[in-house]
Parts: sequence; structure tokens; C-alpha cells
Amino acid sequence: MRELKDLELIIDSGIPLICVETDDEPRVEAVFKRISTRFDKPLYTWSVATGLQGRSSGSDMRMRETELHKVLTHIRQMKFSGLYVLFDVHSHLEEPLTIRLLREISQNQDVANTIVLVAPELDVPQELKANSASFEFSLPSEEELEVMIGEVSREWGLKNKKSVQAKREVIDALIRNLRGLTTTDARRLVTNAIYDDGVLAEEDLAEITKAKYKLLDTDGVLSFEMDTARFNDVAGLRKLKAWLDRRKKVFLATDAPKGLDPSKGILLLGVQGGGKSLAAKSVAGSWGIPLLRLDFGTLYNKYYGETERNLRQSLKTADVMSPCVLWIDEIEKGLSTEGDDGGPSKRILGTLLTWMAERESKVFMVATANDIEALPPELLRKGRFDEIFFVDLPSEDVRREIFRIHIDKRDQDSSTVDLDALAAESELFSGAEIEQAVVSALYSSHAVDETLSTEHISNEISVTKPLAVLMSEKIEYLREWASERTVPAD
Ligand SMILES: Nc1ncnc2c1ncn2[C@@H]1O[C@H](COP(=O)(O)OP(=O)(O)OP(=O)(O)O)[C@@H](O)[C@H]1O
Ligand SMILES: [Mg+2]
Repeated sequence: MRELKDLELIIDSGIPLICVETDDEPRVEAVFKRISTRFDKPLYTWSVATGLQGRSSGSDMRMRETELHKVLTHIRQMKFSGLYVLFDVHSHLEEPLTIRLLREISQNQDVANTIVLVAPELDVPQELKANSASFEFSLPSEEELEVMIGEVSREWGLKNKKSVQAKREVIDALIRNLRGLTTTDARRLVTNAIYDDGVLAEEDLAEITKAKYKLLDTDGVLSFEMDTARFNDVAGLRKLKAWLDRRKKVFLATDAPKGLDPSKGILLLGVQGGGKSLAAKSVAGSWGIPLLRLDFGTLYNKYYGETERNLRQSLKTADVMSPCVLWIDEIEKGLSTEGDDGGPSKRILGTLLTWMAERESKVFMVATANDIEALPPELLRKGRFDEIFFVDLPSEDVRREIFRIHIDKRDQDSSTVDLDALAAESELFSGAEIEQAVVSALYSSHAVDETLSTEHISNEISVTKPLAVLMSEKIEYLREWASERTVPAD
């Protein structure tokens, strides 16, 4: 534990009062247990509920005193030095008597006591500041989380007379998922996962990630998306998929291989309905990590005037949830610095760019955009994203695949449909429009009690005017713009 050394230094330097702001009581207790052995001082803990308890000279002692000042009076009279960890003392720190007693105990030259005040928030009164040190407990490390999982498993094993089943990969993933939580919260989640069936499996991981996200609740700016996708659901975008496949292992590795930094993110630019949002979701699904969506709309609407703070908070949550995908859909809508209200978006952009540049956590950002005019140029500068991909309208072979995916997805048999013909007929169709044609055709076939056929879909294609026809100039401009600044996704 990193804390041990620092605490030893504090105690060695004779500071009698240590103030710890934390929720993580079990962790504090575990650390001071070890300190107590190191310094050979008996350890006592006190809380309103349990009173004072501890061990000295080999025997247990317990004093059911729930009033802090009486306990402090008792400590003041003790003739040998001890280590006293007092929980939930914040509400008492305004009482003159408590302050007086703490002062006297800490000024006692004959008995070198160490008093540790623990509470989620501590306002240390001026009178005590001179004799005290504030100490910050960091969150448990991966090693400590592993020890904790071992403990919970052993407890379950003893109770049930068999051992907990868990694969190494699952434990590793679990440890990663628990990072950022206090020991208390992490232990509770692990206990729940183990105690239902004695097995730690992939399903538990998803549950734990969801529960963790709830603990970190960020008021709706960031949403936890359960609905991810797989690369198999996405037709085409072959270069993008290959790029992502090459980076997956390094991104998920606990220790990044020498010379390779985990990727930070990509921007998907392109025509409407080309599958950008779908691709963003499938990164999370294919890499097996949580998908968090940052919604600028909520950020602006819900927290007028507090947008930057809330953005920072959301980004921090993403850091804690790492490894994860942070998906910002239609990023240009939230960051457009054009027009009169450029003020707040400019600052938001600044906050986002700073985070993108400085973060060390494994948050893979996937941003999508289709309006290049509205995209702030700063975002496109080299080094912001690892790569900017251009998602164009699907080519014929990709259209074939999109038909197949969407027909099969709706429990229809794509092998009875002439996919080649449909692909040829649907020139300039986007993926979204192809999906729409399949859905409408399915309705038509239902209406006349027939199974879905090539003809049904063909009919739908012939009555659809793809957006790309209406917007051909815009798309041409987009392609030209993209050819110099982006790489093709397919
Ligand atoms: N390449 C594809 N493979 C399979 N399905 C696709 C593909 N492209 C689009 N689709 C279907 O169309 C739907 C809409 O596409 P999506 O929302 O991902 O497009 P988009 O590029 O984000 O569009 P927009 O710019 O309008 O947000 C997807 O949910 C998916 O069902
Ligand atoms: Mg989209």
C-alpha cells in the first residue's frame, strides 16, 4: 500500500492528529492495522454505533461509549500510547469540549498517542490545525482489489464448502472494471456477484459495470448505453475495422507494450445514414468495454451556466469508468462556435480539447459528425484524434451485405433473396435507407401474407428517392473536402 510509507513518516515526525477525508472506512482500518504492528502501538477504533474497541496487551477491550467526549476523556487518562481511529467525527468537531480534549491529548508530551479522525468531509477547527496533518487516501490499487476479491471468494468458499469459479480473464477484467471505486463499494459489488451462484462470469462483469456507473451517476449528461453492436452488424467500413482490430490488444493490455501508447480516439465523418453511429457503438461491443455516450444537448439544456463544470465532471466519470468508449455523436452540434452564442461552446471546446490532450486514462473517444462546416478546425488538428475516417455511401458489394444483415436480423431468410440484384438497384442508397427499404418491404409482405421476397424489397427501392440524389452537391463537396484530410473508412 502506497499510503503506509507516508503515514509512517507523519507518525514518525510526531504529529499526533491525522485527519482523513474518505468514505472508505475498511481501507483506513486495514492500513492502520498494519501501522499498529509496525509501531507496536495498540489499535483502537471508535464509532457512535460500536463504541471504542481494540486490542491491547493481547486481550480485547471494548467500551460501549457512544459519546465522543467521554471516550476522549478516557484516552487522555491512558498511561500508554495508542493508535485511535475515530470514525464519523465531523459532527463533533464543533463542540468546544471535544476540541479542548483533542488539544490536550495531542499536547501530552508523556504519552505519544496518535488520533486519526475519519469522515467523508472534515472541517478541521483552527485550534487543532497546528498539531494535525491531513492525509489523503487514494482509491484501492489493482493489487488491493485482487486481494479483496480473494477475500470475498474465500469467505464464500468457507460458507459453502466449495470454491468460487472464475476464469483468470474474468478476474482481470473485473479488477479493471472496479478501478475508481472505494473498497467498500467494490467489495459490495463483488459480494453480490459471487453470492448468487459462486461463479464469477462474463455476465457478472456487465452487471458490475452497470452498478458502478450508477454509483458514479452524473445527472444524465453521460449515459451508459446497454445497446452496443458488433463489427458483424456493420457492413463495409473495412479499413476502419482493420484499424480498430490492430489497436484493440494494446488498448486493452494492462501494461502497454514498449513504444506503443493506447489509442485515444477517432472521428468518423461522413454522409448521413452511412453507419457512423452504428460503428461507434460497435467499437464498444467488439472490444468488450462499456459504452458511454456524452450528450451535448443535455449538457447545454439541463445545466445552463454550469456546462463546463458538468462536462469536466462527465469526463472525469469517463476516466474512472475506463477502459471504455466515450461516444460523442454529432460532435459539431455541441461545439459549433459559429454565431452569437459562440461563448459557451468555445469554452466547452477548450475543456474538451484540454482533456483530450492531457488524459492518461484509457478512454477511447469516438466522435461522429456530418456537417464539416460546423466543425471547429481546432478539433481536426493533427494529434487530437488518432485518425479521421470518412464514411462514404456504401459501394455495391457493401450494399449487398447491408441487405443481408438487415434481412437476417429480422428473422427472414436472405438466401432466398437475390441480394446481387438488390445491391445493383440501390445505387446511392445509404445504409439507413437500405434498412428502411427492408423494413417497409417486410410490412408489405405481411399485409398480403407472403414471405419476404426480392420483389417486395425491389418495389420499395423503386419508390425511394435516396437523400444523396437531393444532396448530391453537398456530398460532392464533402468528398472533396475529405479526400485531403481524412482516410476512407472502407
Ligand atoms: N454499414 C452498415 N451496415 C449495417 N447497417 C447499417 C450500415 N449503415 C447504416 N446501417 C443501418 O442504418 C442505421 C442508421 O445508421 P447510423 O445511424 O449509424 O448512420 P449515421 O452515419 O450515424 O447517420 P447520421 O449522420 O444520420 O447520424 C443503423 O442503425 C443501421 O441499422
Ligand atoms: Mg448518427
